[in-house]
Amino acid sequence: MLGTETQRHPFLQGLSKHRGAPPTAIVIFGASGDLTSRKLVPAIYNLSVDNLLPPDFFLIGFGRKEMADEAFREAMTESVETYSRRELQKDIWERVCGNAFYHAGGYDQPGSYQVLRERIEGIEKDLGREVQTLFYISTPPSVFQPILENLGSSGLARRHRHSGFASKVVIEKPFGSDLESARELNRVITRQFDERQVFRIDHYLGKETVQDLLVQRFANSIFEPLWNRRYVECVQITVAEDIGVGSRGGYYEQSGAMRDMIQNHTMQLLSLTAMEPPVSLDPEAIRDEKVKLLKAIQPLNLGEKDADVVRAQYAEGLVGGKKVPGYTHEDGVAADSATETYAALRLTINNWRWSGVPFYMRSGKRLARRVSEIAVQFKRPPGILFSDAERFDLASNTMVIQIQPDEGTTLLLNSKIPGLETRTQPVKMHFRYRTTYGSNTPEAYERLLLDSMVGDSTLFIRGDETEASWKLISPILERWESFGRQGMESYVAGSWGPLAAERLLWNNRHEWRRAGP
Ligand code: NDP
Ligand code: BG6
Repeated sequence: MLGTETQRHPFLQGLSKHRGAPPTAIVIFGASGDLTSRKLVPAIYNLSVDNLLPPDFFLIGFGRKEMADEAFREAMTESVETYSRRELQKDIWERVCGNAFYHAGGYDQPGSYQVLRERIEGIEKDLGREVQTLFYISTPPSVFQPILENLGSSGLARRHRHSGFASKVVIEKPFGSDLESARELNRVITRQFDERQVFRIDHYLGKETVQDLLVQRFANSIFEPLWNRRYVECVQITVAEDIGVGSRGGYYEQSGAMRDMIQNHTMQLLSLTAMEPPVSLDPEAIRDEKVKLLKAIQPLNLGEKDADVVRAQYAEGLVGGKKVPGYTHEDGVAADSATETYAALRLTINNWRWSGVPFYMRSGKRLARRVSEIAVQFKRPPGILFSDAERFDLASNTMVIQIQPDEGTTLLLNSKIPGLETRTQPVKMHFRYRTTYGSNTPEAYERLLLDSMVGDSTLFIRGDETEASWKLISPILERWESFGRQGMESYVAGSWGPLAAERLLWNNRHEWRRAGP
């Protein structure tokens, strides 16, 4: 039996009637890839368990190598068994698998798209009704452009354009490798699709805690009055991973921390943390505010003295008690690589709310632990009453929104230690998703796949938004490219990053938090 209201997580109750997608065929380009197997197929499975897939749902895997439908279905089943957050329920899964097919073709071969089109039309004929097609581009970025162009020239992009069954396209990150390539990609997209058909994905926007940012900020009247330059000392955004580049050395060499994480995931966290309240929850209203915020960020100082950016590579070290190699000894990485595995930035937002408040961001691989958080550090009260440091251990009030793991919010306060004299110490108030809502909340890709099928673009990135972000990041990358390895810092794997990143904060008498709850 498919999921019922009572079986469902509270998150899902009452959802389907608002979120019904029309009959849909998802075509995944890059269907034999890592993302498809680890995230997309398990997400489709979990949507089917929650009864959130449309009753007429079809899946077509597209890839270069020949594969029989049955082999594709077996690979999908294996990925559900390995990566799904919930156990495989055969009866539910068999219904999805029964409508799953594999289509071998070249990403740049027009003929493959004609055959694909005939296949989709065949599905419609058998069904006796129209279906919307959702093209999910999950290939390396080098083939995004040929796929988009072929979707246009084959007529697939325009199918049912003026009905509720218009085609949609989801484009994975990274969206371009610099400002110019992002603009070019946007031009290609605009030639083939209307913006309302386009879903530029950043899976961080699908994370529960990231969606909760707007709720925490604007549905609670106690925070918003303090959320500005009068009360906030600084904001620190950390996206730290303990893993290295693993088998993705080849990809990572072209990307680095700046393109892989900062330009997209951390900039999205920054936008949602700092943007003005939107006039409504309408996707355009939210995205307008994010773009305004990105445009208010001052160009960074990239000079040799007191630069606003730091880059570094991990050296050999210990992670989780195990010795791990340095970045330049990883598979697929050049011995003289100038690719950063860590980046930290100091940003200034030049608007009424944030003038003078530094925003610090850092992201890296092989750091001490996996943790993503946004820490809003408030100003200290005047040191009149509690100035005796011997008795009064005081911390800055800090609100920490922990994106992952152990999702939740922590408020750091100062409290009197019980006893016969007045002494203080910092204490923490915790709200944890795990204890309030249980631990099995939907994964980001579930929400994002459902939203794209339904046509809700709120959690996707608009073309001008990605360009605004690249406008800030591109000059940094150009500068680094011109320097080669000169200025590349090093950090021991398993540490919190290079000393230079600490120095970035010292000018303002700040220091990085020890990230985590
Ligand atoms: P993969 O490297 O696994 O590639 C996906 C598929 O694309 C491959 O199975 C292959 O399919 C095809 N492919 C690989 N290399 C080429 C090439 N040079 N030219 C043409 N086709 C190629 O990628 P991922 O699945 O890891 O990532 C897919 C997209 O998702 C990327 O844009 C990535 O940045 C993004 N992403 C990935 C994440 C992850 O965790 N993996 C996380 C977030 C985003 P075939 O040979 O069958 O055609
Ligand atoms: C991806 C990056 O976008 O995000 C990876 O390409 C990174 O390098 C991953 O590991 C992190 O995602 P998450 O959801 O595990 O924080």
